[in-house]
Amino acid sequence: MQVVEVTEFGGPEVLVPREAPDPVAGPGEVVVDVAAADVLWVETMVRRGLGGAYFPVTPPYVPGGAVVGHVRSVGDGVLTHWVGRVVAARTGGYGGYAERVVAPAAGLVPVPDGVELPAAAALLHDAVTALALFEGAGIGSGDRVLVVGASGGLGIVSVQLAKARGARVVAVARDERKLARIRELGADAVIDSETPDWVGQARAALGGSGADVVLDNVGGQVGEAAFATLAPGGRFSAHGTPSGRFAEVDPAEAERRGITVRGIGDVQLDDTALMRLTAEALAEAAAGRVVPVIGQTFPLVKAADAHAAIEARTVFGKTLLLV
Ligand SMILES: NC(=O)c1ccc[n+]([C@@H]2O[C@H](COP(=O)([O-])OP(=O)(O)OC[C@H]3O[C@@H](n4cnc5c(N)ncnc54)[C@H](OP(=O)(O)O)[C@@H]3O)[C@@H](O)[C@H]2O)c1
Repeated sequence: MQVVEVTEFGGPEVLVPREAPDPVAGPGEVVVDVAAADVLWVETMVRRGLGGAYFPVTPPYVPGGAVVGHVRSVGDGVLTHWVGRVVAARTGGYGGYAERVVAPAAGLVPVPDGVELPAAAALLHDAVTALALFEGAGIGSGDRVLVVGASGGLGIVSVQLAKARGARVVAVARDERKLARIRELGADAVIDSETPDWVGQARAALGGSGADVVLDNVGGQVGEAAFATLAPGGRFSAHGTPSGRFAEVDPAEAERRGITVRGIGDVQLDDTALMRLTAEALAEAAAGRVVPVIGQTFPLVKAADAHAAIEARTVFGKTLLLV
């Protein structure tokens, strides 16, 4: 079978297709014929050799933490009724950029009827994380939610979920075409982060005393500026780093304003939470409350092009590899 491997840390060109032996399911495992695998911004970061403290991996390795496909075979102790079923599967962090993967049967989540395979793959990280963020921040009807970095996979699902929960959503992004598409997806207002007074515009669009919740998908100075839009007693999630680092907020100021600050550690989910939220994300899609926005797809062997597009910031929504 074909896999795409990171041969050494570096630019997108280090993602190289190669032949690998067909995997065999061990006890408690299944082999999945992959239909689609999602590509994450963080995978471009790890490929560059950054984030080793959180992602201690050494090349050569095959990236990819989650796939959707058909169960091809099962190992000892796994019910044969899984064979042929369409499932979402987790690889344990690596191995998903492949024609076939081995995954623990205990972690499989059936994909409901009516949800296309690529749509399901688009939700496996972004919607699961968004649901965890929404649970953590307790986002509900009437909340004023500022989504920073709203053009990305996580940002778009967050806009959709916030609208589905009855919140008022102000989305911050850049690029006229991306802003227009986010508005079409339901944001009450869209703000261009490249205009000098975007924070003032965001405050005006939020109304009242500011945001109840800020979801920061970008980090750095943009995230820190967004912190200023929070109303007293608000909630801030600093889980984003594409700008180069997480947003840093002064704990004393947060305390003075009664703001709860959460971070990337709060969306590190154990297997039980991953399965529960994956099933919930797929159910949200089946019910039409979340409509995955697949901005671009690439054949598996063109994984390098997918990474290059993400790093060139030409992408919108979710990027997938199709097998
Ligand atoms: N997806 C998840 O499940 C998940 C889970 C935990 C944490 N996170 C973190 O959340 C963040 C967003 O993830 P994602 O999966 O949504 O990524 P994504 O789809 O690649 O979106 C990245 C977002 O960041 C913006 N961006 C890219 N490069 C930037 C830069 N140099 N400066 C400022 N903004 C930049 C993009 O907007 P432009 O249109 O302006 O390029 C886009 O809105 C990442 O830090 C990721 O590690 C994600």
